[in-house]
Amino acid sequence: MGVPATVSSTSSTLPWNVHRLPRADGSVFLVTGGNAGIGYFVAEQLSATGATVVLGSRNPAKAENATASIRARIAGARVRTVRLDLADLSSLQSVVESLEVECLDAVVHNAGVALDDPPRSETPDGYELMFGTNHLGHFALTWWLMPLLSAAPAARVVTVGSFAAKSERLDLDDLQSRKGYQPKRTYGRSKLAQMHFGIELDRRLRAVGSTVASVVVHPGGALDSLTPSRPPIHVPTTGARLSAAPAALLVQGKHAGAWPAVRAVLDPAVLGGQLWGPRVFGLRGEPRREPVWNHLADTSVAARLWDASCDLTGVDPGAIPG
Ligand SMILES: NC(=O)c1ccc[n+]([C@@H]2O[C@H](COP(=O)([O-])OP(=O)(O)OC[C@H]3O[C@@H](n4cnc5c(N)ncnc54)[C@H](OP(=O)(O)O)[C@@H]3O)[C@@H](O)[C@H]2O)c1
Repeated sequence: MGVPATVSSTSSTLPWNVHRLPRADGSVFLVTGGNAGIGYFVAEQLSATGATVVLGSRNPAKAENATASIRARIAGARVRTVRLDLADLSSLQSVVESLEVECLDAVVHNAGVALDDPPRSETPDGYELMFGTNHLGHFALTWWLMPLLSAAPAARVVTVGSFAAKSERLDLDDLQSRKGYQPKRTYGRSKLAQMHFGIELDRRLRAVGSTVASVVVHPGGALDSLTPSRPPIHVPTTGARLSAAPAALLVQGKHAGAWPAVRAVLDPAVLGGQLWGPRVFGLRGEPRREPVWNHLADTSVAARLWDASCDLTGVDPGAIPG
């Protein structure tokens, strides 16, 4: 993967500093779920580079609050929104037209749904909600975005996985969690599916000589209660902050959870097929490269998941040469 033409090349000679990002004037970045949580901070931090940042959100009111917050903090921020509902696969094609750009320098596949309790629920398309939204939604979105990504000099697909996927294994015969549904396990598997996708996508893009690269990141543990206030999007109470303070030894706020994704978008030293996460136990701290987890390197599992995802979505995001 080369240096994106629009990212300041002097940055590659300095150590990465999450508080002093390189300029990316002229670049266009899309962040799914950019209206809240980690995605909001990815969008805020990327906006400070001079890039155009588009928040993909299913909720126009929340998206407007997020853009207002970014504009209030970053003078001249080029931030806007598109309607994006990953749970509705048939709606994703229209996202490309709504973007109104000729090329896209990066997409951050950040949006995610995590259910804590049963019952098992499904997307309108009839897929288990977490697998359908987190994995299939981003899988299909990548297909629709690929012409715009291929039109950029060196675009990146950045997939936000999870530490929760480290201890999970996919059940390729039950991707929809129809048997013995456990929400936590299904969530972890949906994140694992996304991470397999991100690694496998890069392999397939390399095979067809694409200029697009795919990187997988994870945010560690990121709590709302350790996250700085961004009214009206996020206003932690003093009580919540105080009671969460000891947790800061282990985990972090969502502003810091955003750092690996932001680095994967901007840093020329980050290459396709890599995995990046927080430095301290993979749970908190500055972003660093991690070895790709052993089970993520299983190409036969990735290939079977890929085929199943093509069947379920009707698209193949690895098929377009860059
Ligand atoms: N926080 C952590 O500790 C942690 C750890 C590991 C991995 N992650 C991953 O990091 C990412 C962000 O997590 P977070 O903690 O920031 O979560 P969050 O605060 O719950 O935000 C999730 C975002 O995803 C959006 N979203 C959910 N379903 C969607 C759909 N169908 N279409 C479009 N957008 C949708 C939400 O939109 P609405 O506002 O409309 O609901 C929201 O913007 C997720 O992929 C998560 O799996 C988080």
